[in-house]
Amino acid sequence: MSVQPLHPVLIIGSGASGLALALQLAEHHKVTVLAKEQVGEGATFYAQGGVSAVLDARDSLASHISDTLQAGAGLCIPETVRFVIEGGPAAIEWLSGIGVPFARRRGAAQRAAAYHLHHEGGHSHRRVAHVADQTGMAIENTLEQLARAHPRITLLENQVAIDLLLGRAPGGRRRRVLGAYVLDNDSGRVRTHRARCVVLATGGAGKVYLYTSNPDVATGDGIAMAWRAGCRIANMEFVQFHPTCLYHPRQKNFLITEALRGEGGKLLLPDGTRFMKRLDARAELAPRDVVARAIDHEMKRKGLECVYLDASHLPARRLQREFPNIHRRCLECGLDISRVRIPVVPAAHYICGGVRVDRNGRAGPLGLYAIGETAYTGLHGANRIASNSLLECLVYAHACCRDILRRLPAWDAPGRLPAWDESRVTDSDEEVVVRHNWHELRRCMWDYVGIVRSDKRLRRAANRLRMLRREIHEYYGHFKVDRNLIELRNLVLVAELIVRSARGRRESRGLHYNLDCPRPAAAVSPTVLHNHRPSSLVQGA
Ligand code: FAD
Ligand code: SIN
Repeated sequence: MSVQPLHPVLIIGSGASGLALALQLAEHHKVTVLAKEQVGEGATFYAQGGVSAVLDARDSLASHISDTLQAGAGLCIPETVRFVIEGGPAAIEWLSGIGVPFARRRGAAQRAAAYHLHHEGGHSHRRVAHVADQTGMAIENTLEQLARAHPRITLLENQVAIDLLLGRAPGGRRRRVLGAYVLDNDSGRVRTHRARCVVLATGGAGKVYLYTSNPDVATGDGIAMAWRAGCRIANMEFVQFHPTCLYHPRQKNFLITEALRGEGGKLLLPDGTRFMKRLDARAELAPRDVVARAIDHEMKRKGLECVYLDASHLPARRLQREFPNIHRRCLECGLDISRVRIPVVPAAHYICGGVRVDRNGRAGPLGLYAIGETAYTGLHGANRIASNSLLECLVYAHACCRDILRRLPAWDAPGRLPAWDESRVTDSDEEVVVRHNWHELRRCMWDYVGIVRSDKRLRRAANRLRMLRREIHEYYGHFKVDRNLIELRNLVLVAELIVRSARGRRESRGLHYNLDCPRPAAAVSPTVLHNHRPSSLVQGA
């Protein structure tokens, strides 16, 4: 009989949200963190722009709140917005305090309020604290280093969580989390991990689209696991497309930060015409949905493969100092950004929806939490403004930590749980099925559920996805799992949740634009989907 590891707290995901939580909890408890690949691999590592917070005397919380609400187009939860934005300055101080080397204004290294701040779309002030154009890397590396050195934190890499395990709380009808099935990707074995408390910090789901800024781990696993566990999933129709990803055959998923537009970068058609100005008074600094839709429109109207971002009028030395990573990566492609324009296209970037949680990150069943991009807190509403996501990761990691510390003593350790059953499956005989379906699903989402949608496209997508789901489930039921199959099963579920939510919204708002109902409706509410037939209940079903 195999050993079933027992963890006081099991955090699934090692990005900003998972590691920030682990470090804070580890002051009191042992914590285990799972990562699907290496610890550092996740969206956090690739974040460029930075973390938004009110850090300048000319700025105000009211202004940051108002910008967030405006971008969210009537769908933000105002109390959540206030809660997160008020937590901004403390979050930056916490990161600074643990060693994240945020850029400072020259000659101002000693003053607390002396961060060098970038300006990004939708913000009416400079308020994005950054580490040049590799803010995410600086944050992730700092958190990882501290977590590796911490005696109460265990980091387990190449571990793919498959499903949560749930039971009934003693004497009650309420469900509680007991642990998770996890594939050890090195040995190929699935183990049962028991835990008193589980936190989903698995990041986003960009891989559901063919073109995305997201890393390979972003397959919506946490959202899919939560759905199968009976949690509520909200606002999945609001998928954000970043307007400017590098368009070059040698670079996969490389983002050109919005901060470059904030510093004066202009969007151009191939003939050099600047097009954003005639569409929105804020031009290149309009919120992302506006800019991405404008680029999409111009590309479709003129049959273009890309548009261009021009920063060549900015001083070369400033570009190298403030955007060293972009400068270098573009040079590797033969593009000197101080001399030539950068070819760019929009790509799927961020999912505003996710596992519905309360102010502490509680996801429904006792002991189950979701934080970071996996969660829907109500902060972003129908559209997220730049650099509010890392902020949300940090503020909710902190709130979640407090809640877990309060409640953990009441949750006893689960006993032995059912082992993963492989008695009815064999080794796969046709891996091509998985590869084909991966591609078909992502192509279908890109073509039919992209920046501009229509009733007909969404109907087509729903039909295709239904067939894909059946095929994938049949395959899942017959063959041993591997990472690709686990991710594909999650992707098809997440894709269906996006399409279902998009079909249900009979209006256009924020990131959701449907040609057949192009205007916002008078009354507005979030989309909340509920799985009434959870499959993760293993005890007391
Ligand atoms: P992530 O950092 O994505 O980490 C997810 C973790 O979950 C990983 O460790 C992964 O291995 C693990 N995981 C996933 N599935 C499983 C599983 N099944 N089993 C075990 N582990 C699993 N936001 C900003 O605020 N500012 C920015 O400047 C910014 N720039 C961005 C640039 C890019 C290119 C991208 C892609 C996003 C950017 N964002 C930015 C968004 C922001 O980076 C993310 O929303 C945020 O980092 C998410 O953090 P997270 O902790 O939720 O997840
Ligand atoms: C960027 O730097 O443009 C990305 C910022 C974000 O996604 O918040």
